[in-house]
Amino acid sequence: MDMDFTNKVVMVTGGASGIGRACVREFAARGAAVAIVDRDAQNGHEVLAEMRDKTYPADYFNCDVAVAAEVEQMTGAVVSRFGGIDVLVNNAGIQRYGTVVSLSEREWDEVLDANLKSAFLVSKYAIPHMIARGGGAIVITGSVQSVMAQRNSAHYVASKHALLGLTRSIALDFGKQNIRANCVLPGTIDTPMLHWAASLDSDPQRVIQACDAMHIRGRIGTPEEVARVIAFLSSDLASFVTGAAIAVDGGLLVPVGGMSFQESGTGSTH
Ligand SMILES: NC(=O)c1ccc[n+]([C@@H]2O[C@H](COP(=O)([O-])OP(=O)(O)OC[C@H]3O[C@@H](n4cnc5c(N)ncnc54)[C@H](O)[C@@H]3O)[C@@H](O)[C@H]2O)c1
Repeated sequence: MDMDFTNKVVMVTGGASGIGRACVREFAARGAAVAIVDRDAQNGHEVLAEMRDKTYPADYFNCDVAVAAEVEQMTGAVVSRFGGIDVLVNNAGIQRYGTVVSLSEREWDEVLDANLKSAFLVSKYAIPHMIARGGGAIVITGSVQSVMAQRNSAHYVASKHALLGLTRSIALDFGKQNIRANCVLPGTIDTPMLHWAASLDSDPQRVIQACDAMHIRGRIGTPEEVARVIAFLSSDLASFVTGAAIAVDGGLLVPVGGMSFQESGTGSTH
């Protein structure tokens, strides 16, 4: 038993960038046929070209995963192309900022649709195909914000908390059909999303350095470090892991009060 995905079909949403792109590379290198699902056609075709250069079986499916009709059509196209679905990585998402008072209804819906409704819709249309293959694995990309909160991010935090609940519901509802569902909780990861968020500050480099210091590991994570855990959870090696929240956060969630408190607060030796 190992992390070999030969003859498996893996669907990765948000596969054109960041953590999703690293997942596409990880699964393809381990033998899977990979469906790259995204709404960014330019980046999607860039990843696809990389896969074709390596002669990996992959295809790009342009889809807004927050729109039911597009998801239904895309899922059918993936099954027609590859013959089924074994692994689903529900990873597409966006980061935005605001409080419940400052946010408009449209801004709230934009984040809840992209982060939460998307995982509902893709699971809804993919799970029957996974059951038809005798089961499979789903990994949802949550966040440390699935269990903690960052200021000024009400809709993002709400969506990420809900994704953990959705993971547990899927694990419970489809366990008997041999489907496992788990949620990864990444800390700060070096992706275009992070660099977009940092660019909102007058000193983006300072933001990244502050992020480095928040993690016990002393640095932010790489997309590949998250993709490897997603691949493990999708593999038979994780056969007894379901409904779990797995932090991939360099220790970000561990220190009471954060690392700066640890270094200068109660109990500090300095
Ligand atoms: N980067 C981090 O620090 C971090 C930390 C915790 C969790 N996450 C989560 O990881 C996931 C991936 O983030 P990333 O950092 O790789 O971001 P990213 O912006 O690099 O990639 C996200 C991808 O999702 C796609 N996408 C977004 N909405 C979509 C939609 N409606 N339909 C189709 N595609 C859509 C985008 O086009 C993009 O290609 C997200 O769910 C994010 O919330 C990221």
